[in-house]
Amino acid sequence: MNPRLNEVFVWPLCTRIIHWIIASSFFLSFATSFYHHLFRWHLAFGLIFGIVLFFRLIWGFVGPNYATFKTFKLNAKELQIYFQEKVHNRWRKIYAGHNAASSWFTLIVLGLGSLIVSSGFVLQGTQEASGILGSLNEHYYYVSSYLFFAHKLLSYFLLMWAIIHIIGVLIEQFYHKTHMLFAMITGYKKAEGKHAQISLIRHTFAYAVIFFSLYTLYVVAYQETFVTQSRFQKRDFQMENSTFFEKCSKCHKIYPPFMLPNDSWIRLMDGLNNHFGEQITENNITKSEQTTIKAYLLTQSAEQSTHKIAFKTLESLGEMRPISMSKVPYWRESHKGIDKTIYKQLGIKDASNCFACHPDFEYGVFDNTRIHIPK
Ligand code: HEC
Ligand code: HEC
Repeated sequence: MNPRLNEVFVWPLCTRIIHWIIASSFFLSFATSFYHHLFRWHLAFGLIFGIVLFFRLIWGFVGPNYATFKTFKLNAKELQIYFQEKVHNRWRKIYAGHNAASSWFTLIVLGLGSLIVSSGFVLQGTQEASGILGSLNEHYYYVSSYLFFAHKLLSYFLLMWAIIHIIGVLIEQFYHKTHMLFAMITGYKKAEGKHAQISLIRHTFAYAVIFFSLYTLYVVAYQETFVTQSRFQKRDFQMENSTFFEKCSKCHKIYPPFMLPNDSWIRLMDGLNNHFGEQITENNITKSEQTTIKAYLLTQSAEQSTHKIAFKTLESLGEMRPISMSKVPYWRESHKGIDKTIYKQLGIKDASNCFACHPDFEYGVFDNTRIHIPK
């Protein structure tokens, strides 16, 4: 069956596909994490990364030869010998399965990867208030910053290991000429050992997982399901407080009260005579209406909310209490990629028109999965 001299068939097609799904889902979820408006894709790739890691774990026990953990070379001596040989002997013969370095790397990916995926999962619940763990937001939103830090740190750590792995493979491929990179494309490695065998049932299992990964990509990226469902539903501000709704939606849509802290609302309400260049007098909003609105705002402010915008705004404000989002460091940071001219070009009055890019913001909904810049 072997048409190639000195080569061993090590990686059946399904294992190669899974290998590339593991690699690409990690890199893509990493890359998309830098863009809030690609959050949906970040979730999708992260979830797929989790699915294939879980598969790889099971495969390590029940997979074909060369894939199982019991064939891994894990003691320190073997690792040392591997590197010594690599340095001293350019034309060395290698064993067909995982070498000592790639055995360790597989465990690193499984270990770090599962921590990254699980912290991401919990983070989606506590911070975004969405997905299966969305209800965690209500009581545990305050752990988000720590979780976020851990999630990020671990990802950079795994990226570093991935780069080391890639360098090692390239050295094997082009300096030692063991065809290690080609092996993950063609399945054949210049090595010693028996050809890999894979049973029908293992094949079926592996292809089911591949199919399931693609299906997950489609569902998470394009469908509204429990995986991306937010805990926060549209609010009816008219019902919550009709004075606030009627008086404050005259000139612009309603800015949800959780957007700014107590003292910002106090400042804003005490300064209505110069409200962003508009003079709002008692003829427009009577003293008692102002009192009602102020009281309502204070019960619904950022301090009272577990909404991501609320705690991220509070966190980034420190002692400052501005009356506009455009003064909030967190807001500036999130929008620094948006060209100023876009606001004009798109016919949006200015950055204050959150509603143009964040649909349903006037109902208190902020969904990372739905950010769009209107055309
Ligand atoms: C007379 C018209 C008018 C009324 C009434 C009015 N506003 Fe405004 N408001 C403005 C203008 C103009 C701006 C500047 C932003 C813009 O161009 O939309 C603004 C901006 C804001 C902002 C800042 C948004 C940001 O982050 O950039 C907040 C918050 C706000 N208004 C709250 C309120 C509240 C609360 C009420 C009710 C008490 C209210 N407004 C009533 C005209 C009005
Ligand atoms: C021109 C369109 C536009 C306007 C106007 C706009 N945003 Fe955004 N906003 C975006 C885009 C695009 C992103 C995602 C940036 C990125 O990819 O990192 C974003 C990101 C955000 C985020 C960060 C989400 C996160 O995960 O942390 C918040 C919060 C936010 N916007 C709130 C607001 C508020 C409040 C306003 C109004 C004061 C506003 N935006 C006005 C387009 C806009």
